[in-house]
Amino acid sequence: MKHCDSALHVTGQSNYVDDVPNPAGMLHGAFFGSPVAHGLIKSVDTTKAAQIPGVVSVFTYEDIPGDGMIGGVVADEPLLAFQETSFHGQPIALIVAETVEAARDGAKACELEIEELPPITCPRKAFEKGQILQELRVFEKGSVGDAWKDCEYIISGSVDLGGQEHLYLETNRSRAIPKEDDQILIYSSTQSPSAVQKEVASVLGLPMHKIEIDVKRLGGGFGGKEDQATHWACHAALASQLLKRPVQVVLSRADDMRMTGKRHPYKQDYKIGLDAKGNILAYDVFHYQNSGAFMDLSNPVLERTCLHSTNAYAIPNVRISAVPCRTHLPSNTAFRGFGGPQGMFPIEVAIDAASKQMGLPAWKIQEINLAKKNYVFHYGQELEDDRLSRCWDEAARAFEFEETQNRVEAFNSENRFKKKGLAVMPVCFGISFTKTFFNQGSSLVHVYTDGSVSVATGGIEMGQGVSSNMIEICSRSLGIPVSQIKSNSTNTSRIANISPSAASATTDLNGNATIIACNKILDGMKQVAAEDLGCDSSVISIENAKVLKDGTDTGLSWNDLVSKTYMSRVPLMAHGFYTPPNIHFDGVKGYGRPFHYYTYGACVVEATVDCLRGVYKIDSARLTHDLGRGIIPSVDLGQVEGGLAQGIGWVTLEELKFSEDGRLLSNALSTYKCPDGDFLPDNMDVRFLENADNPGGPLGSKAVGEPPFMYGIAAFFAIRNAIHAFSPVNTSETVCPMTPEQTLKLLYPNFSFSEDIA
Ligand code: MTE
Ligand code: HPA
Ligand code: MOS
Repeated sequence: MKHCDSALHVTGQSNYVDDVPNPAGMLHGAFFGSPVAHGLIKSVDTTKAAQIPGVVSVFTYEDIPGDGMIGGVVADEPLLAFQETSFHGQPIALIVAETVEAARDGAKACELEIEELPPITCPRKAFEKGQILQELRVFEKGSVGDAWKDCEYIISGSVDLGGQEHLYLETNRSRAIPKEDDQILIYSSTQSPSAVQKEVASVLGLPMHKIEIDVKRLGGGFGGKEDQATHWACHAALASQLLKRPVQVVLSRADDMRMTGKRHPYKQDYKIGLDAKGNILAYDVFHYQNSGAFMDLSNPVLERTCLHSTNAYAIPNVRISAVPCRTHLPSNTAFRGFGGPQGMFPIEVAIDAASKQMGLPAWKIQEINLAKKNYVFHYGQELEDDRLSRCWDEAARAFEFEETQNRVEAFNSENRFKKKGLAVMPVCFGISFTKTFFNQGSSLVHVYTDGSVSVATGGIEMGQGVSSNMIEICSRSLGIPVSQIKSNSTNTSRIANISPSAASATTDLNGNATIIACNKILDGMKQVAAEDLGCDSSVISIENAKVLKDGTDTGLSWNDLVSKTYMSRVPLMAHGFYTPPNIHFDGVKGYGRPFHYYTYGACVVEATVDCLRGVYKIDSARLTHDLGRGIIPSVDLGQVEGGLAQGIGWVTLEELKFSEDGRLLSNALSTYKCPDGDFLPDNMDVRFLENADNPGGPLGSKAVGEPPFMYGIAAFFAIRNAIHAFSPVNTSETVCPMTPEQTLKLLYPNFSFSEDIA
């Protein structure tokens, strides 16, 4: 099977929120955003805005009939700013007009009196000023304090780790359509329809059953629409409810970039201690998370940072301290890896720093310290299998780490201005929401009397292929071809209390639920077949749309049996509910077994740096990944390559720049560069672990969406190692991303880059 949307996408037929024909009388919304990052609102004057031809209404905080404060973890964010503004671009007024243009003109005509206050953009500074969203969290294992005296090498340093713009192709958008009796139908580009439903209900002061959310697909989410699609749905719903007309809100790219949060940047301090052989004895890290203005998902993101702070390594003494710091930036949010990449980056920096001191390649230290079966992480979960080592060993063998290292060193000794670097990134990523209750999936399978099948689950299609996976799972469960199955939109009236499509767990949770639903239907159908054929239902099976008895064709087709089942008044629809077994996590103690299992892999990246110009080329990225038994090969490969590309982008080209006064400078695709096809390595060699069925995953599969992102981290070190071969790098202060500008600074640390060169 291929991705079920591919033909629709390339012919432009796939529907997104604003592709559905406009309902009569639909209005459009636009925002007047705060012109300063931090200020006290003295007055908002919308008189002129309201006079713009086409403008129908202008709404501010006072117009909200229900609760004006929103937020999934803590309701600390005003839907429209009042009294105070907390980031540049924060919506203050919603202008609703007959056309998008009129709405935007209205936004420009809003007048504001504001007392500007100094903004904080640095998390360290925020921490110093007591601006934290939650108390400091500390995870401890063993005693780092006692361990230092046994260490041969002790190295410490700091990391300045950048954020990342989601850059989904489809910006945030929502369309609200009023129905009878205060009911509203909302099309929203959200990863979390039930969060939207709940928040809209709260904002409007209505019960949730009056709000229906429908999502066909997203043009990418990447975590950016896990929590932050909610706002725009609330805005559209608010205007639609007050005006009793359909209202659509579509953010322009510029507004989406300045009004929505990104991957959290972090500042970090680390200290690592090793014995003479390279065994890591102690690791101590402090994470200052740049959370932005409100809580959003900062708390669970930071939690995953803590859990993944030792990545794939066995370390006897660990201390991890972390604090979410409040700054005057848009609220940072979920982004592929959900804090995991930020947790893993500093341990890789620490290992790299140790390798430079010890004169050993970093991958040798990584190898020595790789966690083995029965290792217990600092949060209490044990590694239950040896797949991490299998991935590493297979990668080391297939991609010849030792030989590659020798080849790179030979190249570097022969070339003066071109240098190569090599780096390996192992990944051990926990699968499950760390908020245990979220780990539930639901599916509704309908078999119609013509034999066609529709499957609707809580899973949101955002390009990652969950719809295709659900079709394939139905096909294999029911024994009928994929052409007979359609995946329906995700709708809160079909499935209640949907967990966000996130944590890479969407296919796991909803796929297992789909298998349960299919089996319920099959049970009934087999009973009907057994009665018809005069045998026991246990000998009935269905393959290729044929009904088999003891494995032989009975002449009865799927369609025949569907008709007989219907005529027998046996249900042809079923709801399946699934929750993974044996997971628990005490969020306060930071202890338990949060993950259903881990997804593993190891990736080796080679890069070449042009040491005169400061530009580089990623030559290759080669990896072994544990996919379990994959469901649809092309979809899985797409996830691995896409994740890797996004990870490489994060640590190389993608640089978020804010001015001193908190304005986003990299606010367009002309100033924010993400990798294109040409930038990516010519040689991307992705291999999957064989004979690796995952008993917990549907059809033996493993979650694949996020883990490959972290392979990209190897690109940072590959480039830096190449630089190091030209000019020794000071590893005590690490700045990420490694933009060409940053590369040049490291190549020529003593050169003062004058204004005109810059
Ligand atoms: N792939 C595409 N094409 N588009 C996306 O938005 N999101 C990523 C990943 N892969 C994303 C994607 C993120 S952040 C997650 S959590 C998972 O897909 C979510 O889907 P899954 O749970 O089905 O893996
Ligand atoms: N991953 C992704 N999204 C989440 C998580 C998580 O662990 N927890 C809450 N939302
Ligand atoms: Mo993904 S960051 O869990 O949406």
